[in-house]
Amino acid sequence: MRRIFLIAIVLFLCGSVYAQETIIPISTSNNLMLLETSPDGRLNTVYFGEPLANESEYAAVSRGYNLRDNNSAINNATYTTSGTWNLVEPAIEVIQSDGNTSLELKYVSHTAETTSDNAVLTTIVLEDAQYEFQVKLFYKAWANENVIEQWTEIQHKQKDAVTLKKFASANLFFTGNEFYLTSFGNEWAKEMQRNEEKLTRGIKSIDSKLGTRAHLLQSPNFILSFDGKAAENNGTVVLGQLAWSSNFRYDFEVDPQGNVRFIAGINPFASEYELQPGEVFKTPGLVYVVSHNGTGEASRNLHSWARDYRVLDGNGERLTLLNNWEATYFDFDEDKLTALFKDAKELGVDLFLLDDGWFANKYPRNGDNAGLGDWQENKKKLPHGIGYLVEEATKEGIKFGIWIEPEMVNPKSELYENHIDWVIRQPERPEKYFRNQLVLDLSNPEVQDFVFGVVDKLLSENPELAFIKWDCNSVIYNAHSAYLEEEGIPQTHIYIEYTKGLYNVMERVREKFPKVPIMMCSGGGGRGDYELFKYFTEFWPSDDTDPLERVFMQWNYSYFFPSIVTDCHVTDWSDLSLKYRVDVASMGKLGFDIVAHELSENDLAFAKQAVQNYHSFKDVVWHGNQYRLVSPYKNDFASLMYVNDEKSRAVVFNYLSNFRYMQTASVLPVKFAGLDPAKKYTIKELNVYPGRRSRFDTEKVYSGDFLMKVGINPHITLYSTSVILEVNEVE
Ligand code: DGJ
Repeated sequence: MRRIFLIAIVLFLCGSVYAQETIIPISTSNNLMLLETSPDGRLNTVYFGEPLANESEYAAVSRGYNLRDNNSAINNATYTTSGTWNLVEPAIEVIQSDGNTSLELKYVSHTAETTSDNAVLTTIVLEDAQYEFQVKLFYKAWANENVIEQWTEIQHKQKDAVTLKKFASANLFFTGNEFYLTSFGNEWAKEMQRNEEKLTRGIKSIDSKLGTRAHLLQSPNFILSFDGKAAENNGTVVLGQLAWSSNFRYDFEVDPQGNVRFIAGINPFASEYELQPGEVFKTPGLVYVVSHNGTGEASRNLHSWARDYRVLDGNGERLTLLNNWEATYFDFDEDKLTALFKDAKELGVDLFLLDDGWFANKYPRNGDNAGLGDWQENKKKLPHGIGYLVEEATKEGIKFGIWIEPEMVNPKSELYENHIDWVIRQPERPEKYFRNQLVLDLSNPEVQDFVFGVVDKLLSENPELAFIKWDCNSVIYNAHSAYLEEEGIPQTHIYIEYTKGLYNVMERVREKFPKVPIMMCSGGGGRGDYELFKYFTEFWPSDDTDPLERVFMQWNYSYFFPSIVTDCHVTDWSDLSLKYRVDVASMGKLGFDIVAHELSENDLAFAKQAVQNYHSFKDVVWHGNQYRLVSPYKNDFASLMYVNDEKSRAVVFNYLSNFRYMQTASVLPVKFAGLDPAKKYTIKELNVYPGRRSRFDTEKVYSGDFLMKVGINPHITLYSTSVILEVNEVE
C-alpha cells in the first residue's frame, strides 16, 4: 500500500504557461532553477540562483538574460543534442537506426510529483519529431538540504537498435562572472589532492577510465564556485558527484560570455551503447548541493542529505575496530589472531577485522600474487575455520569482521584455472595485471551468482559475523567479455554492464543481509560514491594513514562525506606521536591497525583513554553538524568542529600541519561556529597524554557569543601538536 503522502501525490502540470512558453521551476528552499521552452519548443535553462519572491516574474527572466535567440552564441539548452543546430559540446549523441546522426529534442510535457514532505520529483518528456526517440529528464529536489539529483531515461520505438554515443545525466547552465573549479585526484596513497583553477574559454574535462571504480587519478567530486574562488562562508557554490561506480566524464564549457555549461555523465569512452527498441537506458544520478553561503553550508547540507536519504544506516551506529592488515600483512595464524583479539578488547574497540590472507589452499594467499578467488579458509593458517575465530572473538567480548575482494582473481588460483571465461581479458593478447590480479566479468549473471555466493556463504555460515571490508584493487585492463561475445552483445557495453552487475549483486546482498555493516575499499580510496552508499555503511578513504597527510585528505573528503562514513585508522605510517595519530583518526570513524601489546605503557594507557573518550563523543562527530574553522591550506594548522543539533555539545579538533618552529608561534584564537550565542558553555581538553597537564580551565564558563566572535586559542605548539576540545552546555 502506498503511504499517505505518496497517495497524496498530486500529479499536476506545474509551472505556468505564458503564451506559448512553458516554465518549469526546480526549486529547493534556497535555490531556484528555471527551465523554459523557446517559441520553437526547445527547452532552455534560463535561471539558476537564489529563489525569486514572485512567481509571476518567472516569465520575465529569459527576456532579461536575452537567452532566447537561437542564433546567439549562447547555448542554454537543458539537454543539448547533436547533428542538428547545436555547435557546442552535446549532452547526447546518437546514430538513429537508419544511420542518420541527427537528433532534435523538443518539449512534450512534464509532471511534478511530491514524493515526501521534503522532496519533489520533476519529470520532463522531450521527443524528436522526426524519429521515434524520447528522453525523459528527472530532477529530484530535496528542499531542506538544497540537494538535487538529476538523471535521464532514454528510449525509442524505432525498428532496430539506436546507437547511443553519448548519454549525459545532466546538462546544467550557469551564468556568472568568474567560475572556479576545484577538482580532486592523484594516485594510490595520494587520493583527493585538490586543484582549484579558474575556468577559462573552452572546455575543461575531467574523466576516469578505470572500469571498476570512478576514483583515483581523477575523482568525481567537484566544487564549482561562482564569481571567485570557493569560500567557506560566502558565495555561490555547487558541490557534488556523479553517483556512478565506474568511468565518468565532466565537461565544463565556458562560452564567449563567460557562462558555464556543465555536462556530467558516464564516460562515453569505448562505451557506445546499442539501445534496443523499447529498452530504457537509465543514466546515473548527478547529485549536487547548491549554497549561496559557501562550501561550509553546502557540505553540512550534503552530509544531512547523505545520512537521511542515501547512506545505508546513515543515522545509525558504527563499529570501532582493530584491523590486522598492517600488524601482520599475510603472515598470521590462529594464535597470532587470537592474541590480537585481546588487544582489541584491551583497547576497548568493538570489533576485530581480519584482513587479506585468510583463504586459498592450492595456491595459498601468502602474498598478493596468489589465491584470490579461492574463498575457502586456508587450512594451514586457520585449521579451525572462520567459525572458530568468530567464537573466540565472541568469548573475548568483541565482534568479528572479515575482508573479501570477491570481484577479483589472481591468475594463480583455482578459480582462474576452472573459469577463465569469467575473467575480463583479451583472449588474443598478453594479460596485463594490476596488483597481480584480474577482474571478474560481472556482466555475466553466473559471475554475479559467484560474487553474491562469497558473501552469502560467509554470512550464512557465520551469522555472528558483524562486519565486512569489501576491497576492489584492480582496474580493468584489456576490456573484453567472453559472456558478451557469446550473447552477441557489443563489447562496448562492458563497463556499463560490469557496473550494473555490481549493483545487482549488492541488491541481492542487501535483500538477504540488510543490516551488516560493509566498508567499501578500493586499492586505497578508489571507491566512495553515492550509488554504492545505498549498500555500504562506510568507505576507506586511502591506504595513506600518515596522520599529517590525513589532516589534508580528510579535510578534502569532508566537503562531500559525513564523518560517519569516513573510516580512519591509527597505523604506524609515520613517526608522529600516537596522540597525534589517534586525534586525527578520531575525526572520522575510528579504527586501529597496530600491535597494541607492543605499545609503551603510556601509549597504551593513552590509547585506551582515547577510545573511551571517542565512545563518549562519537555521537556528535557521526551525527552532528560539521564546521571547517581553519584550513590547513591557508594556515599552519587545521581546526574543525562538530556540533549536535541541540547546540548543547561540540567537539573541536585542532591539528598542527606545519612543523616549523617559526610557524607555530602564530596560532591565534579559533572562532567556533554553530553554537547558540545565548547559551553558556565550558571547555575541556580530551585525550591529554599521561603525565601532561591541560592548559584549559574546565571551570571557566563562556557564552556561545564569545566563543563564536572571539574564540579560544587551541594552544597548538610543537610540544602539543594536536588538541581536542569538548564543548558542553552548562545546564
Ligand atoms: C588494499 C586495502 O586498501 C588495504 O587496506 C588492505 O585491505 C589490502 N588491500 C589487502 O590486500
